[in-house]
Amino acid sequence: MQRTLLSSTLANLVLPLLLLAQGGASDEEIWADFTKWVESVPARRSVSGTGSIMRAEYQKKLHAQGLSTEEVARWMRVLGPSRDNPERARTWWDAVFKFSTGPSDPLKLLVETIRDRKPGTALDVGMGGGRNALYLASMGWRVTGYDYSPEAILAARENAKRQGLVFNTVQADHESFDFGVERWDVIVLSYVTPWNGLGTEERIWRSLKPGGLIVYQYGVPDQLPSTALLEPWKRYRILRFQDEDDTHEGFQGGGRRVMRLVAQKGP
Ligand SMILES: C[S@@+](CC[C@H](N)C(=O)[O-])C[C@H]1O[C@@H](n2cnc3c(N)ncnc32)[C@H](O)[C@@H]1O
Repeated sequence: MQRTLLSSTLANLVLPLLLLAQGGASDEEIWADFTKWVESVPARRSVSGTGSIMRAEYQKKLHAQGLSTEEVARWMRVLGPSRDNPERARTWWDAVFKFSTGPSDPLKLLVETIRDRKPGTALDVGMGGGRNALYLASMGWRVTGYDYSPEAILAARENAKRQGLVFNTVQADHESFDFGVERWDVIVLSYVTPWNGLGTEERIWRSLKPGGLIVYQYGVPDQLPSTALLEPWKRYRILRFQDEDDTHEGFQGGGRRVMRLVAQKGP
């Protein structure tokens, strides 16, 4: 009886690994393995950074499991912050923030934009480890940041505690977050794209105070025309717009194209 139990447990553990190791794992199987790993691996976010530490750890596990270098590379191509599957994307971000506290430096665009402004209320959309929220808090702003990844929330809270700063963290996705009405002097969008037909653009507009600012930086896909980048901001006064090849700050956006935008809601 005990032997049967033992061999069935072994079969449960080893067989899937062998099957996966022999190659041919489907995208679903790859995501299932990754998700199980993310759920079970203990958090070790002592250093700032983005996904590279997590990727290296997961690859180490796959090699130990017997996958060839080519197979590991194939698996890593399947994984990533998928735009089409929010559950998988969130798993990806949970993994990233289990292994790092996110980038630590705020965006230069934000630093330059608020330099001469009186502190007010600010919202950091998809704040990750909260580098921009924390910078604003350090400059005397009252800040709220939201993110749908519980690990990102933990990372942001740990970063705040380490720096002796306070800001409000909310676990929510773009769809469910309550932006409010005329609530924010500044809204930061740093390497996030909350546009999924969720009416976010309208909710963001309503939630800004008159005269309030959008500070938006993102890695732009090569094929997008510059004019498409400005389309969502037609109602705003554009105070700054750059679309150029540059070094990304923190997260990557595919290529080298970086968009920087500061837009103001007319009074
Ligand atoms: C590339 S990181 C940027 C983090 C941060 N803004 C920064 O620049 O350091 C993207 C962040 O957006 C969050 N995110 C992605 N999709 C989201 C969604 N639908 N709702 C809320 N947060 C989301 C992720 O969890 C992740 O923390």
